Amino acid sequence: MPIDYVLLTAGQIQVRVRELAADLERNAREPIHLVGVLKGAFVFLADLVRAMEGPVTVDFLAAASYRSGTVSSGEVELVRDLDATVTGRDVVLVEDIVDTGLTLQVLQQVVRSRAPRSLRTVTLLDKPSRRQVPVDVDCVGFTIPDCFVVGYGLDFDERYRNLPDIRVLTP
Ligand code: PRP
Repeated sequence: MPIDYVLLTAGQIQVRVRELAADLERNAREPIHLVGVLKGAFVFLADLVRAMEGPVTVDFLAAASYRSGTVSSGEVELVRDLDATVTGRDVVLVEDIVDTGLTLQVLQQVVRSRAPRSLRTVTLLDKPSRRQVPVDVDCVGFTIPDCFVVGYGLDFDERYRNLPDIRVLTP
């Protein structure tokens, strides 16, 4: 798949990430426990956490959603669990993209079942036109159309995660 065009520049992303960090910290009185969803969210989380003034702690989950090419089969499995307890904490799930919503639905259930004090979700990208299940997302960086995007943590066949911007791939 060749890269077609830049959808979001590195500069646009950095401005929005700072706004999201400020939104998440507004009125926070207890430490915020960020839970990044591997692998895609690692770049976003790294910038988000550095844009926060703290106090903040970080943990990770990993989910595998089974796809053929760019199409999700709908099966989602937790493949890496949290290191630390989330019980009684103010948790923010950090996603790079919400597409069908299937991954987030499962991960929100996993975290909620462990009784956090609060649970919010932030995603850098949202593709609402692809949603198969309803999910609550508290903070969205950018709402994007139904195109296949790579860069800033997002991959195609594990490539392109290192791009500083977000680009569209076309078949
Ligand atoms: C991507 C992304 C989300 C999920 C969103 O992960 O990071 O976790 O897909 O899709 P959905 O809303 O349709 O469930 P992916 O499975 O590509 O793995 P990766 O993060 O390791 O690249």
